[in-house]
Amino acid sequence: MQKLQKILVTGASGQLGQSLQKLAGKRTSVIFAGKKELDITDTKAVASFFNQHQPQIVINTAAYTQVDAAESNAELAFLMNAETVKKLAETCKIFGCKLMHISTDYVFDGSLKIAYKETDIPNPITIYGKSKLAGERYIEQSALEEFAIVRTSWLYSNFGHNFYKTMLHLAKSKNEISVVDDQQGCPTYALDLAKALLQIAAKLTKENSGVYHYCNTGITTWHGFAKAIFEAKQLLVNIHPIVTSSFPTAAKRPAFSVLDTQKVQKTFHLAIPSWEEGLSKCILEG
Ligand SMILES: NC(=O)c1ccc[n+]([C@@H]2O[C@H](COP(=O)([O-])OP(=O)(O)OC[C@H]3O[C@@H](n4cnc5c(N)ncnc54)[C@H](OP(=O)(O)O)[C@@H]3O)[C@@H](O)[C@H]2O)c1
Repeated sequence: MQKLQKILVTGASGQLGQSLQKLAGKRTSVIFAGKKELDITDTKAVASFFNQHQPQIVINTAAYTQVDAAESNAELAFLMNAETVKKLAETCKIFGCKLMHISTDYVFDGSLKIAYKETDIPNPITIYGKSKLAGERYIEQSALEEFAIVRTSWLYSNFGHNFYKTMLHLAKSKNEISVVDDQQGCPTYALDLAKALLQIAAKLTKENSGVYHYCNTGITTWHGFAKAIFEAKQLLVNIHPIVTSSFPTAAKRPAFSVLDTQKVQKTFHLAIPSWEEGLSKCILEG
């Protein structure tokens, strides 16, 4: 029988971290550390945590994720999403530990019209995207041989802050909502991603290390996603499609950020649910 690897999940109080806890919370081989238990910017604390727990794989879900705030907090975004990731990769190398790191569709500028492959050249248009890409580069340039950088998109779940929960919240007080309809992407149910991450963790080797794209399958817009949420929840909300320019945000969003997931499917033999299936599960499990 294959022995379970000891996994450390950092950023465990975040949306993806909580999704992983829901899925693997009872597995004694998985250690969950939120920011309170382990601040990953504290290199000494990280080394001492590794010493104590001897993880064989780290799934790093911790990040500075405030896309708009990052525009005026570049230093903080780069400290967390780039410099800290560099040090984490170095610590993993020292302890002979594999690293699975979560990145984002926002490393792309959104100018393509077909799903982005891992081989497409990133060109982030936001500070957040630039800081996440810098983190990716640090891992690739590190001496670490066993790693996976998993880019995902439009994460949502019943945990934390996300578009799905915002829509449900708005529906309580409004019967008219305007939502952007000219940004195309794919909503990803965080529990689906969590499941895939555990499957990848079980099969990650030096040979298959690299960058992977994971999102639910299909394509929609924020408006399409909001409409599907209200329909599935049978909420009577008039939802109006608007263009991005009528909803200004500090950070620009890529107009198109669908990720091609063929590589992750083939390499790790994953069957990826559609975004509509993901949404149904999220509602059922909520
Ligand atoms: N959400 C999306 O739509 C989306 C899309 C694509 C990619 N991603 C990527 O997916 C990953 C998970 O995202 P998510 O939605 O789960 O984000 P999240 O809910 O914001 O979770 C991130 C967690 O990291 C923690 N954290 C921040 N600084 C830390 C530190 N110094 N040490 C330890 N933990 C720290 C945060 O704690 P505090 O809240 O206490 O600061 C938070 O609990 C991130 O890498 C993100 O970039 C997200």
